[in-house]
Amino acid sequence: MVFISDEKKNQIIENSDIVAIIGDYVDLKKSGNSYKGLCPFHNEKTPSFTVDDKKQLFHCFGCGEGGDVVSFIMHKEGLSYIDSMKFLASKAGIKLDDSKSSKENKILNRFYDINKDIMMYFYKNLLTDKAGQIYLKNRGFRSNIVNTFMLGFAKNSWDDLLNYVKKKDYLLDDIESLGLIKKSQNGKYYDKYRNRLIFPIINHYGKVIGFGGRSIDSTMPKYLNSPESQVFKKRYNLYGLNIFKKQSSKDIILVEGYMDVIGLNNQGIDQAVASLGTSLTNDQAKLLKRYAKNVYICYDEDNAGIKATDRAIEILLDEGIKPNIISLEKGLDPDDFVKKYGRDAFIKKMDEASDVYNYKYNKILDLYAKSKDNEKFEKLNLFIEFLASIKSDLTREIFINNVSKLFNIDKATLKESVLKYNDNYKKTYINNKENFSNDNNFKNFHQKQKIIVERKIMKFQLMSLKL
Ligand code: GTP
Ligand code: MN
Repeated sequence: MVFISDEKKNQIIENSDIVAIIGDYVDLKKSGNSYKGLCPFHNEKTPSFTVDDKKQLFHCFGCGEGGDVVSFIMHKEGLSYIDSMKFLASKAGIKLDDSKSSKENKILNRFYDINKDIMMYFYKNLLTDKAGQIYLKNRGFRSNIVNTFMLGFAKNSWDDLLNYVKKKDYLLDDIESLGLIKKSQNGKYYDKYRNRLIFPIINHYGKVIGFGGRSIDSTMPKYLNSPESQVFKKRYNLYGLNIFKKQSSKDIILVEGYMDVIGLNNQGIDQAVASLGTSLTNDQAKLLKRYAKNVYICYDEDNAGIKATDRAIEILLDEGIKPNIISLEKGLDPDDFVKKYGRDAFIKKMDEASDVYNYKYNKILDLYAKSKDNEKFEKLNLFIEFLASIKSDLTREIFINNVSKLFNIDKATLKESVLKYNDNYKKTYINNKENFSNDNNFKNFHQKQKIIVERKIMKFQLMSLKL
């Protein structure tokens, strides 16, 4: 726990200009003695949110929200008072911790500064080099997308960036750790990103933590990303969260790639974030929970995408989020879809998104429908497993009704099977964890459970068959 003295608190507040801090979330325009913008706490079309530069206070005449820079951060970032102070301190470059962590902070800040400078370098390249601009134009991107995402371009050269960092007297070791240059076998450095569109990855604190680069010709790999480093920790970050934070909707759309985030934004949908080319992690799910109320998963509709959706669902449920699932057309990712059909069609797909339980249920129904007659009984287990996974009594009851009708099984029998499934699960798994120290034992348990449930239901069905 960090202790922050009153003196430090004052120092932090004095160094956190409210107009600059709020400006990271809201486009503020000067209006008389204060600044005006669209309120980040409620939905509105005409600005009623004001920031008073002199008093260092904000107020919204629409929803009544107001306070100083600390309460703004507490509310917008969902942080406690102390954490908001830490947040502002880190933004202002004020050190709070002991000497060890302040040494670490020093390195971090050095890396952030280098990344930011190199982001600007790539950005200027894009403004002056036609190749990157042509690529963006061919993909139908509007020019303002470049500024929104601070896109950049790495020239088709082995040493363009290298020469720049040498001129700036940066330590080449640092630049290598950040994954921007590499060492060849003969010990010479060369640029890692060449002839690529650059996506700076900016975290939710506004720091440039890494870069993604897409090849603009057919050079493989299609994407290059920053390696893990002190500043770039994939599992704790989401691409586009810095943009999401600037708008007021609480609906967040989880997509697979940089281009999906940008493609949606290009059509006026500024709520998408991507999980940086990995499958969703628990830490990323925690971030989603912190910043949004409703999570929509919108992954590619190919086999890999469907698998990734299933994994993401389990991670989100694990963190207490019940996601909605958007299904687009087969073969189209969100960027392709929105380019082909436009914003309204995507919003419609969002409205039609499946809640997580119907999504799972329909998938099992699909499997059931496709299975051969002699395999249909086997599929019953999937339904029981599904019912057992529903925590809400009300929701479970609804689906028990459905399954009961589908199989013509009495509801009481289904409920009993579900209870038994959970009971056995607890008895065998929770109370006897050591037996499940390896995957095989765990699989065996499920196998046994399936047989028990199957037998029970089969027996019931035989009994209810009026021969
Ligand atoms: P476009 O083809 O430009 O429209 O991009 P996309 O987003 O449709 O690409 P795709 O669905 O293939 O990939 C989604 C995400 O996976 C990308 O944004 C990357 O983060 C990651 N990815 C894709 N290909 C590669 C690769 O070759 N290497 C690495 N490291 N990551 C990749
Ligand atoms: Mn794509």
